[in-house]
Amino acid sequence: MTDDLIFTTLDLDDESPANTARVAGWLDAVMRGFHQGRATDGFRTRWLAVARADGVVNRGVWDTSSLGLSSDVPVATFAHFTKPLNAGAAVVDAWMISDVTVAPTHRRRGLMRRLMTENLDSAVAAGMPVAVLTASEGGIYQRFGFGPATREARVRVDTSSAFRLRHAPDDGGRVVMADPAESWPAASAAFARHHETTRGALARPTFYEHWISGYDWDEQGESRRQRVGVRVGPDGQPDGYVVYEVKRGDETEVKVSDLVAGTPTAYLALWQFLADIDLARVVVGPAPAVDPLAHALVDHRVRRVTSLPDHLWVRVLDLAAALEARPWFADGSLVLRVEDPLGHADGTVRLTAEGGRATAAPSTERPDITLDVETLGTMWLGDVAVDPLARAGRVTGDDAALARFAALADGGPSPYCSTHF
Ligand SMILES: CC(C)(COP(=O)(O)OP(=O)(O)OC[C@H]1O[C@@H](n2cnc3c(N)ncnc32)[C@H](O)[C@@H]1OP(=O)(O)O)[C@@H](O)C(=O)NCCC(=O)NCCS
Repeated sequence: MTDDLIFTTLDLDDESPANTARVAGWLDAVMRGFHQGRATDGFRTRWLAVARADGVVNRGVWDTSSLGLSSDVPVATFAHFTKPLNAGAAVVDAWMISDVTVAPTHRRRGLMRRLMTENLDSAVAAGMPVAVLTASEGGIYQRFGFGPATREARVRVDTSSAFRLRHAPDDGGRVVMADPAESWPAASAAFARHHETTRGALARPTFYEHWISGYDWDEQGESRRQRVGVRVGPDGQPDGYVVYEVKRGDETEVKVSDLVAGTPTAYLALWQFLADIDLARVVVGPAPAVDPLAHALVDHRVRRVTSLPDHLWVRVLDLAAALEARPWFADGSLVLRVEDPLGHADGTVRLTAEGGRATAAPSTERPDITLDVETLGTMWLGDVAVDPLARAGRVTGDDAALARFAALADGGPSPYCSTHF
């Protein structure tokens, strides 16, 4: 059956009728794979514009034995593009994998495996330190060396009179309401501050610009309920924003879809702003896994975590580059053995940390610490410390080596990635 399958990369700039139909078919396959409605012409035009702006590379698998039925629609899709990721000690390019779908008619025949392994080869050839993705299910991507590296909470906050911050987040800044259509320059400036200061922050794909400006990608039309509050810092520059809508019902609810802050005060000020919205007594939305709001409240129980799923999965591709981009929290040296069944990050290095940064040089010495590439991905952004991974049998070494590795590797604020793709 594989003889009937054609693996091709789309040329998004080819506007011939045949290619236009293929591009539309590719998008149809993705919408189908994620159980979304069929794309309207307007949606397709926007999608194409953002894919071009981000330099997305779209690959697909077409089945030539489809009897002419939906022959432009591929049976598998796969996309990648790159954006800068704050790894804590340096900002690195992350190879972002997205739109992975396989049609129900072609599942579990190795299509995704082939697309993924070939794609990771391309990422290595392009010199990428890490690949990242978000996963619809938790059991798929370990086999390719990805580890869940950040989490994102969903919280439900009672904003009735019980909501009280211990200290007013007052630094001379203020929150102003913005027309969504005009809010993008302020929002992107605020995000830039957030990206600079937040380990795990990943630059936003271009579809965010359309969305924050008022286009609803799910509904494929203008979002008339969307509101944007921009926080202006004491320096007069945007340092945060929140995108939300108010859902009226038995219990009127403020539904936050994006909240970004470049400073701790901006973060709490945006929450105070949300709590001050009249006629609503509940705010629901995303939050960091370790959330300062919980500690800023007088009564922490007004904030309830309703879910805490994994978010960004990391796959280390270049061992030395990845180790050198993350922060280290003590000075010292040890030999690290990383096992990678696909070979990309496989190796033994002497890691020498000093002043918060490390160098990693190939070594033939006996390793102090051994772990696999998936485990390295999980601990790379600092969401998981050495100890639980050692107790799980995933980081091994003698007790002294484990203690030294923990002293070097663990520390700093927990990571937060609020970028979805
Ligand atoms: C997930 C999906 C892409 C898998 O594609 P596929 O072509 O069937 O996968 P493959 O046949 O290449 O499987 C490769 C390996 O992954 C495993 N696998 C595939 N899907 C899995 C799943 N949902 N859960 C656990 N393991 C899975 C296979 O068993 C196989 O394991 P093996 O190589 O150890 O035998 C496909 O089922 C799909 O389109 N799902 C809906 C969209 C989606 O969830 N996309 C992922 C978004 S990030």
